[in-house]
Amino acid sequence: MRHIEPYRARRVRLLEAMEAGVAVVPTAPERLRNRDSDYLYRFDSYFYYLTGFPEPDALLVLVAGSKPKSVLFCREKNPERELWDGYRHGFEAARDTFGFDEAHPIAELDTKLPELLANQPTLFFAPGMDPAWDARVMGWLNQVRAKARMGVVAPADIRDIRSILDEMRLVKDEHEIATMRRAAELSAGAHVRAMRAARPGMMEYEIEAELLHEFRRHGAQFPAYWPIVASGPNACVLHYRENDRLMGEGDLLLIDAGGELDGYAADITRTFPVSGTFNGPQRAIYELVLAAQTAAAAQVKPGNRWDMPHEAAVKVIAQGLIDLGLCTGTLDSVIESEDYKRFYMHRTGHWLGLDVHDAGDYKESGEWKLLRPGMTLTVEPGCYIRPAENVPEEFWNIGVRIEDDALVTENGCELITAAAPKTVADIEALMRDARSV
Ligand code: GLY
Ligand code: MN
Ligand code: MN
Repeated sequence: MRHIEPYRARRVRLLEAMEAGVAVVPTAPERLRNRDSDYLYRFDSYFYYLTGFPEPDALLVLVAGSKPKSVLFCREKNPERELWDGYRHGFEAARDTFGFDEAHPIAELDTKLPELLANQPTLFFAPGMDPAWDARVMGWLNQVRAKARMGVVAPADIRDIRSILDEMRLVKDEHEIATMRRAAELSAGAHVRAMRAARPGMMEYEIEAELLHEFRRHGAQFPAYWPIVASGPNACVLHYRENDRLMGEGDLLLIDAGGELDGYAADITRTFPVSGTFNGPQRAIYELVLAAQTAAAAQVKPGNRWDMPHEAAVKVIAQGLIDLGLCTGTLDSVIESEDYKRFYMHRTGHWLGLDVHDAGDYKESGEWKLLRPGMTLTVEPGCYIRPAENVPEEFWNIGVRIEDDALVTENGCELITAAAPKTVADIEALMRDARSV
């Protein structure tokens, strides 16, 4: 069943926040991959957040004020094109099915928009997101201005609609949380499948195929980003994506992969030994990263600053690196000098939602934002040890990241991706079990 109420409620909230004026929110264009062949279509996240409408060539207009209304522009029915490319709602059915007050063919955009913008105080738009839309919107404004002598007034203010929408998108509603839970669950299942499948002698891309298979078979329309299947030294390449190495007996395998379901991303990393058993140094680094993740997750709770999980992770990792002889000095000095960054060079998380690195600021008036119930973020510390003269050889090429998706609750957080095992005991038990059948 199609849920239209959450989208309508978001439009109402946006209209209230606007107070007066007109908002213009286009969806993403189709993009050519090579001659006659498009990339699989993905709507714009802002547009989808407000409409739930999945087709390309569409644009939402919201008119705020005493008589607020939402207007969709989209493709008309076209039996010939539908024969080749598939179903189109058409503007009338789209209006009724998705709950807009009005709808018009997208072909009427250039005549209707100057009318809609006339005598409005403010235009809400996302300037700079797409030069083609920037130019088109300026053209509509100029058409309104050209009617000045007839007494028509053009919007005096142009405001970036993202400042309102980003703040809304930071706190997920029930519908979003339910979708994210499903995305998290199926993505956790893909990591379990990968752990069960992995064997020395396989290629990384064979594991990539297991992940993609599991995402799709549970309805995920896309991977939320291209899976990282990084064995051995590749685990120390943060954005490794070739996934074409032969996996060896003694390798760790770092998998960063999540599905996108109905627009919402999951983002999970698990690291495990291809052989099914961690060796001593691998286990030491793994336990350290897991302890850092546990400490970071404990800081994900309402009222805590955004950077508190990161600070907690850095403390644990820096101390662990000192204990293992990989950094020297006191905890304070290693943190102060940032020496730990030789091994832990990224931050501990990001907002998660329609975009993998989701919309929303991290600071407000110069201060880190405070966490609130309904926010969703990743918790993903790591440790990456490249061969170097001053590093004992036993640690070379160990790369570990552990990443879960956290939902901030009233009292703390829930890791919605927890179904993917992550203790040494649970991982080794799962892999043993997979080998016994
Ligand atoms: N997979 C992208 C990230 O972890 O941020
Ligand atoms: Mn992430
Ligand atoms: Mn990730």
